[in-house]
Amino acid sequence: MRFFVDTADVDAIRELHDLGMVDGVTTNPSLIMKSGRDIIEVTREICSFVEGPVSAEVVALNAEDMIKEGRKLAEIAENIAVKVPLTWDGLKACKVLSEEGKMVNVTLCFSINQALLAAKAGATFISPFIGRLDDINIDGLELISDIRQVYDNYGFETNILAASIRTLNHASQCALIGADVMTAPPSVIKAMAGHVLTDKGMDQFMKDWAKTGQKIL
Ligand code: E4P
Repeated sequence: MRFFVDTADVDAIRELHDLGMVDGVTTNPSLIMKSGRDIIEVTREICSFVEGPVSAEVVALNAEDMIKEGRKLAEIAENIAVKVPLTWDGLKACKVLSEEGKMVNVTLCFSINQALLAAKAGATFISPFIGRLDDINIDGLELISDIRQVYDNYGFETNILAASIRTLNHASQCALIGADVMTAPPSVIKAMAGHVLTDKGMDQFMKDWAKTGQKIL
């Protein structure tokens, strides 16, 4: 499973990138707002060191303007994936931009039917939002599993980019289900290293080591 980092915080991306944990990056208008930076400038900086797909989202509401914005965003770097919303206009923009050879990430997906339409419109990535479904008491992970089955049933090549990942369980279950990619905030990716028994084990080792009075360095 590829890991995308869901942030526009360049320092956080760099830290994970240096560890080989970054296969791509996703941003959205809220993350750009949080960064306090200009979308073109920050996206260009991210693309200067991230080799994989970097999603940058359009903000127009009609297809014609989404296409114009998508073309402008795609000029930033070759690895830009233009992010469009899963609306009828977004699907139209997806079709046109995909046919131009651009990577397209269709975002804000909350149903199997939406995922089917995105695949038929040529999306490179479909982004089902797990956490936001959980927020309204619908099992977000079940949607990932359902889309996996439907895409496999018909051989759709659109990549399932599991998004809105908030918990360690979301991450591990996406890997078990076979999501192609997950995008998670840096905090979740870092938390994946943790386990209560690792902490307990380290505590015991350190106590016993102190009793030996030895040093390695
Ligand atoms: C993905 O591309 C989205 O930016 C992101 O995963 C949304 O996550 P949230 O629901 O935690 O804001």
